[in-house]
Amino acid sequence: MTPFTVAVAGKGGTGKTTISALLIDALVREGMIPVLAVDADPNANLNEALGIEVAESLGSMREDAFTRNIPPGMSRNEYIGLRFRKVLVEGRGFDLLVMGRPEGSGCYCFANDLLSSCMRSLERDYRFVVIDTEAGLEHISRGTIGHPDVLLIVSDPGARGVRTVGRIRELALSLGLDGTSMLTVYNRIRGDAPYETAGIPHPAAYIPEDPSITDADLNGRPITGIPADSPARAAADSLAKVVIRRSGQPLK
Ligand SMILES: Nc1ncnc2c1ncn2[C@@H]1O[C@H](COP(=O)(O)OP(=O)(O)O)[C@@H](O)[C@H]1O
Ligand SMILES: [Mg+2]
Repeated sequence: MTPFTVAVAGKGGTGKTTISALLIDALVREGMIPVLAVDADPNANLNEALGIEVAESLGSMREDAFTRNIPPGMSRNEYIGLRFRKVLVEGRGFDLLVMGRPEGSGCYCFANDLLSSCMRSLERDYRFVVIDTEAGLEHISRGTIGHPDVLLIVSDPGARGVRTVGRIRELALSLGLDGTSMLTVYNRIRGDAPYETAGIPHPAAYIPEDPSITDADLNGRPITGIPADSPARAAADSLAKVVIRRSGQPLK
């Protein structure tokens, strides 16, 4: 079974990590297990949002630095598999992989290649892969995100945010991501202002501004620990259902 891959993109600070964590949690609760959570942002903090301790990241995303360390007698793929298993952390219903910081101005293509080799070398059949990226316009243009099944673009609902969503969509299309469904998520919605989004198809979700997220953040608690009845969680649960439907898997 090929896992259904969701890459979460958008400008910094829009809520990619928060929404990735809530989405992963919702997928697990919907029984879509196991999920592979990938933190592909060098300023990795998806583990904190998920409440998981991580000791190690996959490390250098530069091919030369990575392959330099292959022990004699081991193939490149065996080595990738070994490293992957070493850094994979098990959570409840999901595994977490932290990609780490790319060295120097290394080529991001290797990170994608690494991820696909890693996935192939694993015996586990993941149903979903959720990648928390640092992908704003610049990283998408560098091809950091590969070819996910869904590109989830997170934005604030302001005019500038909406324009950025449009640019990310165009850029993704120009990079040949035409087989990727693009879903927009507006985050930090206050009140019930009529968020009409000229020219942009209806978003997959509106995630409300949620004091329990602020609270979790301030107190260094995992985002996935917010109360079951908090509004952001309810919205993220509906988003997960949209994603599951796209994947063609039956809902519970
Ligand atoms: N719906 C929300 N309600 C309240 N605070 C939020 C919400 N979404 C994100 N935040 C806060 O906004 C900040 C940035 O979110 P984060 O998920 O780290 O963004 P990104 O990963 O895109 O940089 C964090 O402090 C987070 O707690
Ligand atoms: Mg982040």
